[in-house]
Amino acid sequence: MSDKDQKFPIDLELEAPLKKVRYPGFDMDILAMQLVTEAHVEDGKAVIRLRPISAPPEVREELENQIAAVVREATGVQEIEVYSPEPPPAKKEEKGPRPIDGVKWVVPVASGKGGVGKSTVAVNLAMALSALGLKVGILDLDLYGPSVPMMLGMTKAKPDAIGQQIAPVEAHGLKAMSVGFLIKADTALIWRGPLVMKAVRQLLHEVVWAPLDVLILDLPPGTGDVQISMAQEVPITGAVVVTTPQDVALTDAIKGVDMFRQVSAPLLGIVENMSYFNCPDCGGRHEIFGHGSVEPLCARLGVPYLGEIPLDPTLRKLADLGQPREVLKIPAGEPYRVLAKKVLAQLESED
Ligand SMILES: Nc1ncnc2c1ncn2[C@@H]1O[C@H](COP(=O)(O)OP(=O)(O)O)[C@@H](O)[C@H]1O
Ligand SMILES: [Mg+2]
Repeated sequence: MSDKDQKFPIDLELEAPLKKVRYPGFDMDILAMQLVTEAHVEDGKAVIRLRPISAPPEVREELENQIAAVVREATGVQEIEVYSPEPPPAKKEEKGPRPIDGVKWVVPVASGKGGVGKSTVAVNLAMALSALGLKVGILDLDLYGPSVPMMLGMTKAKPDAIGQQIAPVEAHGLKAMSVGFLIKADTALIWRGPLVMKAVRQLLHEVVWAPLDVLILDLPPGTGDVQISMAQEVPITGAVVVTTPQDVALTDAIKGVDMFRQVSAPLLGIVENMSYFNCPDCGGRHEIFGHGSVEPLCARLGVPYLGEIPLDPTLRKLADLGQPREVLKIPAGEPYRVLAKKVLAQLESED
């Protein structure tokens, strides 16, 4: 390109006139402020471009009028176009997952399918971890069918507000929160995407959880808005997937594992619930669902096997009665102690 062809962004003849224009309310001229990106007179037409400015419309207009006036006066050109674009809308602050103040580990309990015992495992695991001397919280994220209040025997509890935050309910040495505490049991709530996101965020970040070693999250079944919101809101230390030995439940367990892999959350392992039946009459152990399929599945998926919990009518009864403390006193509760130790060992190794 020859010197002659080279185009400077601002025509020499326009420099002096543009220097006379001050930004409304400022002492500086618009060239000194580097507001002008281009100023040319060509074929009897002047074009002046400004860089995007965020200014009220009247300021923008005044600026454009001033520029047009000085350019007209200096050049005699009648056709003048001043472009002063608005800046692009400010990018929304991207809120990535952020730790919960004063909470060391976050452990979701998940499954691909309902009714496999997530909530039961979540509550009893929380109790067993607490029995190991940890400070434990349980957050019921099953917005559609909260069952933690019943399982803790706290259906009448009402959490207190602390300023803008909510205090969790104290139950059996645990800190607990559930939408079940906040809305009437018979209120059918239809949770849609953005509302789910907001509820999950508030339950994680606007509840006074601290200080906790571990916060257990009881999830609804499957992979929906709640799971996505959870993964966006909080770094997951490691997830526990619950399954039963039935084939269909195993397929769902794989889905559960995949979900956490997709959001790059570590997996602590899979628990086999209702693994065998403790017969209250004969005292025998019956493997009604064909026990023994979960451990090989874990090996195949490369996920730790966290052990088995029997199908025991007493476990169901104590869950219905909201007496989780009793669980650790009966033989069927023993597997929860084993589970808690395995989970704790893994959490400590994540540090
Ligand atoms: N190991 C078990 N033995 C007997 N009943 C169980 C066991 N685990 C769960 N249940 C019962 O099965 C039902 C479903 O369990 P729940 O924990 O609510 O499942 P989910 O949260 O996966 O939907 C409840 O009535 C619960 O008491
Ligand atoms: Mg549940």
